[in-house]
Amino acid sequence: MKNKLIILLIGFSLMAYSQKKNTKKTIKIKPRNEFVTDLLSRMTLDEKIGQLNLPTSGDITTGQANSSNVAKNIEEGKVGGLFNIKSAAKIKEVQKVAVEKSRLKIPLLFGMDVIHGYETTFPIPLGLSCTWNLKLIERSAQIAAQEASADGINWTFSPMVDISRDPRWGRVSEGSGEDPYLGSQIAKAMVNGYQQHDLSKNNSILSCVKHFALYGAPEAGRDYNTVDMSRIRMYNEYFPPYKAAVDAGVGTAMASFNEIDGIPATGNKWLMTDVLRKQWGFKGFVVTDYTGIPEMIDHGMGDLQTVSALALNAGIEMDMVGEGFLRTLKKSLEEKKVTMDQIDNAVRLILEAKYDLGLFEDPYKYCDVNRAKSEIFTKESRAEARSTASESLVLLKNDNQLLPLKKTGTIAVIGPLADAEENMSGTWSVATKKGTSITLLRGIKEVAGKASTILYAKGSNLTDDETLENNATMFGKTLHRDSRTKEELVAEALKIANQSDIIIAALGESAEFSGESSSRTNIEIPQTQKDLLNALLQTGKPVVLVLFDGRPLVITNENKTVPAILNVWFAGTEAGYAIADVLFGDVNPSGKLTATFPRNIGQVPIYYNQKNTGRPLMNKEGKFEKFRSNYIDERNEPLFPFGYGMSYTSFNYSDLKISSDKMIQNQILKVSVDVTNTGNYDGKEVVQLYIRDLVGSVTRPVKELKGFQKIEIKKGEKRTVTFEITVDDLKFYNSELEYVFEPGNFEVFIGKDSNTENKVSFELIK
Ligand code: BGC
Repeated sequence: MKNKLIILLIGFSLMAYSQKKNTKKTIKIKPRNEFVTDLLSRMTLDEKIGQLNLPTSGDITTGQANSSNVAKNIEEGKVGGLFNIKSAAKIKEVQKVAVEKSRLKIPLLFGMDVIHGYETTFPIPLGLSCTWNLKLIERSAQIAAQEASADGINWTFSPMVDISRDPRWGRVSEGSGEDPYLGSQIAKAMVNGYQQHDLSKNNSILSCVKHFALYGAPEAGRDYNTVDMSRIRMYNEYFPPYKAAVDAGVGTAMASFNEIDGIPATGNKWLMTDVLRKQWGFKGFVVTDYTGIPEMIDHGMGDLQTVSALALNAGIEMDMVGEGFLRTLKKSLEEKKVTMDQIDNAVRLILEAKYDLGLFEDPYKYCDVNRAKSEIFTKESRAEARSTASESLVLLKNDNQLLPLKKTGTIAVIGPLADAEENMSGTWSVATKKGTSITLLRGIKEVAGKASTILYAKGSNLTDDETLENNATMFGKTLHRDSRTKEELVAEALKIANQSDIIIAALGESAEFSGESSSRTNIEIPQTQKDLLNALLQTGKPVVLVLFDGRPLVITNENKTVPAILNVWFAGTEAGYAIADVLFGDVNPSGKLTATFPRNIGQVPIYYNQKNTGRPLMNKEGKFEKFRSNYIDERNEPLFPFGYGMSYTSFNYSDLKISSDKMIQNQILKVSVDVTNTGNYDGKEVVQLYIRDLVGSVTRPVKELKGFQKIEIKKGEKRTVTFEITVDDLKFYNSELEYVFEPGNFEVFIGKDSNTENKVSFELIK
């Protein structure tokens, strides 16, 4: 409510500032360097500092603070961009203020968290990554850019590429899982999708890689918490996706909230200047995260003036919501705590981004209301979102081929997520329009068609835990609590369950249980839903668990008792259709996990590319061995490993071959395997290649993903899949942080998930 009021106030005051009719002009301007140098030479110090200021429109709040005086500041040239304001018409009004009322008429950037689609919403990024389909992922970003740019947005705060190995952290939902190689490929695909190698197009937008850096490794999985990590681990395991985004030409980067080596990322010169700019050659600008500068006061780095100077000195160009630059940089310049060169350089990078977007030629380039009417939430984009979503679903279990279902008989659809429209799109779907997402119930009804009878009951609330409910529903969210008692809800569910041939139980997390500031210490299905599930199982009817989640959950018990489990994440506006497509076999599932599912929360952080240690387990059966690296009360293995996911068909791997058992530098080795579809359905398989470096100057992981191919194989068909390995695939950062390969023996594994033992070996010779 409070937010709504702020939007209205800002909206009205901004409109009042712009009375004149906009006359669209596209002018030809000087080359970038000349243009920006000239503009800079005409700017006052206040105007320069103004360009470094990024307030929020107040539409969407993700922190405790909000920006004030936005309209007035824009007119006075004290704003470089605005974010999280929605609609081409509204944005046009605001742009008019900058372009017609401010002295130098510098257009604004308009940013937004377009994280997994715009109004056409794709699966949450963790789900999207489970497609292992880079073309689809790139396309999803392109569609997001198409829609956002049609609605006035020219800058997205995406991709989020933070590697995470701890599902307690609520933001695992926003990333691509635990693997640096896959994460890097996805980072590149997303940047290319948004920017399309050409920012001058009217349907490409500036991308922002975040959160630089290591935000996915907070201690205890608690959001915003301390990160403490060796540099060798940063470089080998956590940095690669950020670097991949930089290599792909990402235009901007966002600093993370956490500290690194004891210095918050926002004030960390080593990170922002030495690594990002000097080592990686980043040419764009860096924006802080929401109030990242003033938060350094709480980190214990000094007062607002000190931390603002620290940020500028570190290599930060734009201040999101914090107003530290706006309020203190002038004083710091007078006191020689920062230099004019530093300010000029920061302004230059921001102006260059505006130039690249073509905003100086046409500030209203993205404000074509006709495009907004015809290019958003189109039939075509929704069809693509539906098929992408169906590839993101991961079939975890399917005893006796319970799935796919027949489109006949009576089907009971039960659970608090069965008819939960607002939950389909998941976290960070700020542009999704209320009421447009397809629920599971609706999807099942439409896809199953007339020959079947579909019954529905809610069965339980999402949770009966008041604390969880209260904390997950801040800022006006609701879990749509049903006021009936638990017993009444279960009784209604059992009634329809008993009338049906099969039960689909739609359970798991609400969208609000994951995402920013939604860390959990208990990552199981909430107890009240578990009780419902047990009651359903006791009917003796077959039960399919459709599991909604924004993170890997601990479902060890459910895996014992439920015959079929389809993990569906939050699959976007077309979720209900996509899930039904898979349940009824119109689409054969092909998603594979990109984050390990623990069997016990005590195992986290858990990930496949671990080190062997000096005392690895000797047996693979999970049998306890004393004085080995293990637990006395739990096995080491996860419930489902990285790369895991079933299909309705089966794939057989055979004839793994390597072109030579020796590799000389500059030589390419070929590794191939035959994959045969031995089941009854056509299907897609993600063929995964892992490498183990057996001896190194530093300890090396037991396996590292170094290649994958998603291929389609018709039933009965055999395909040979070939990978090439070069020394680049064998490189790593050594203890001097040099990127090297070392001669010696390597193992190459190819298989359907990270557990594969199917291997060949070779020796790298100097
Ligand atoms: C989040 C960012 C986001 C920003 C702007 C912050 O709270 O950490 O990921 O881009 O808000 O909405």
